[in-house]
Amino acid sequence: MTRTNICHSSNSEHLLHRLHAIQQQYRHIPSQAMQQVAAEYRLPVSQIKSVVAFYAFFSTQPCGRYHILFSNCTSCGYWSNGHNLLQSLCQLLQVTPGQPRADGLVSIDETSCIGMCDHGASMLVNGIPIIGLNPEKIAHIAQQINSEVPIQHWSATWLEVPDRVRRRDLLLSEAWIPGSALQQALKQGADDTLANIQRSGLRGRGGAGFDTGQKWRLCREASADTRYVICNADEGEPGTFKDRYLLLEYADAMLEGMTVCAFVIGASQGFVYLRGEYRYLLPSLQAALDRRRTQGLLGSCILDREGFDFDISIVIGAGAYICGEESALIESLEGKPGIPRIRPPFPVTHGYLGQPTVVNNVETFIAAAQITVHGADWFKAVGTSTSAGSKVFSISGDCEKPGIYEYPFGITIRQVLDDCDAVDVQAVQIGGPAGVLLSARDFNRTIAFEDVSTGGSFLVFGKQRDLLAIHRNFAQFFAHESCGFCAPCRVGTQLLKITLDNIAAGRGSTGDLEELQQLSQIVQHQSHCGLGHSAANHVLNGLRQFPHTFTQALKPHFTARFDLDRSLASARQITQRDDAAAHLDNR
Ligand SMILES: Cc1cc2nc3c(=O)[nH]c(=O)nc-3n(C[C@H](O)[C@H](O)[C@H](O)COP(=O)(O)O)c2cc1C
Ligand code: SF4
Repeated sequence: MTRTNICHSSNSEHLLHRLHAIQQQYRHIPSQAMQQVAAEYRLPVSQIKSVVAFYAFFSTQPCGRYHILFSNCTSCGYWSNGHNLLQSLCQLLQVTPGQPRADGLVSIDETSCIGMCDHGASMLVNGIPIIGLNPEKIAHIAQQINSEVPIQHWSATWLEVPDRVRRRDLLLSEAWIPGSALQQALKQGADDTLANIQRSGLRGRGGAGFDTGQKWRLCREASADTRYVICNADEGEPGTFKDRYLLLEYADAMLEGMTVCAFVIGASQGFVYLRGEYRYLLPSLQAALDRRRTQGLLGSCILDREGFDFDISIVIGAGAYICGEESALIESLEGKPGIPRIRPPFPVTHGYLGQPTVVNNVETFIAAAQITVHGADWFKAVGTSTSAGSKVFSISGDCEKPGIYEYPFGITIRQVLDDCDAVDVQAVQIGGPAGVLLSARDFNRTIAFEDVSTGGSFLVFGKQRDLLAIHRNFAQFFAHESCGFCAPCRVGTQLLKITLDNIAAGRGSTGDLEELQQLSQIVQHQSHCGLGHSAANHVLNGLRQFPHTFTQALKPHFTARFDLDRSLASARQITQRDDAAAHLDNR
């Protein structure tokens, strides 16, 4: 692994991994440890402190020995099946959310989507996903924790995350032969391999849909001695879990796609940036890397080609959705808080350590490997004229058959809904909270870059769903995940959340709808990065497509938005008064 004093100590352990280990050992990151790490990595203590403060999976106060994080996503969230499972577990274990129990045994908190949306309510216990929660399972878990049974000894079926692939198309039905793409690439040379990718029309599968061949070409042509390949496996968009499956079942093809990219651009080092929530996939990914090294598909002189040296390291994130944004991801890889860079320059010319870098999604690298084997025409034969190939979807929400579906581009939303047995559908959210909210009027539209584009998330909302609650959930997600770097997003996402909460609490007026519009425009147009640009999409879509969601919650008369009596609760607590005269409404 490349050594730099930016994020590696003398033993090459990545800064985030060092901090993960300390967090695991002490259940928090003590200030002394921060000083020690700063000395080891020859970094200012302030940088270590800012990293610890930035990532949700690091804390400066101790967590419980069992640290539970309930997903609060609309699909794998604790309230998704109608029960407030977080509340029941807190009651059973006598824990207040956000505070460890007095004996230090357990702490319970919330986290953003953990990518288990096809399995219903889910949580992480010391980083291990426990899926399909229901009241009975919660009662059992409380017993296990109170009896201090180590998680490894919990029922084996609880620790499994089965994958449900409901439909295979171009990529998922092809058997994969390790080395096949590299052999082809070496045979035809770097120029033709790149030309093939360019001719295939492959566009990025991570959401933005940038032309992959062009990205590789720009990186290859940037003048530098060192180039990098990064696989973006941060999959944090709520409702997206297809990369979780691909990383488990198609890791070899993904690693081969990265190696083909390295061959084309002339890189010798690659990284897989794996989201912290998918840490449980690490052993199988490491095994795939080891296997490929033994097979001569990674390391020095790959497939005996003199001078073709390339290896891949896995770096595990620490609970920050923004690190999926490519420049924030690179900052994180460099051992810093994941704050998006000012662009241009783009990573293709100034990426990791300022060097030209290709960042692609997991699925994009798999597609690139398959295109190298089967050719551009094989790929272009599927899909539409401007959206070649197929797309892997993560389908969840109110349908009978949630799971992984692969479709050719150009499929209609209605067909997808029929296939996943979704009936009485009120709306679909495509592309996650950052994507687009569509009503039945749009179900004949197609999934394609030229129509409805998605990184893979396909959330179904039945007629019984309270869409205002969904909007509040999305708004909470963005307010929580905003990195805070720029004011329009930092403040705007909070204001959107507060305004929606006020409307839901019956304190909204028609003026609030105008304010939602204006705020949304500001957040969308004035923010620094893609998170802010897309954070208000759902509000604008909702106001346009489902105005009733908001208007039915409004009060005919002006109601104070600010609950003065409630906000004086702390003053009453300090003065130890809670009599009628201490309340405004009893004056
Ligand atoms: C807030 C935010 C989060 C993102 N999260 C991801 C992600 O989890 N995975 C991903 O591949 N791309 C994500 N992206 C897009 C990346 O910035 C980048 O475009 C992508 O990794 C490029 O790969 P592709 O061309 O193969 O799609 C995100 C973008 C934004 C603005
Ligand atoms: S838009 Fe939001 S996430 Fe992006 S830099 Fe600004 S504050 Fe950070």
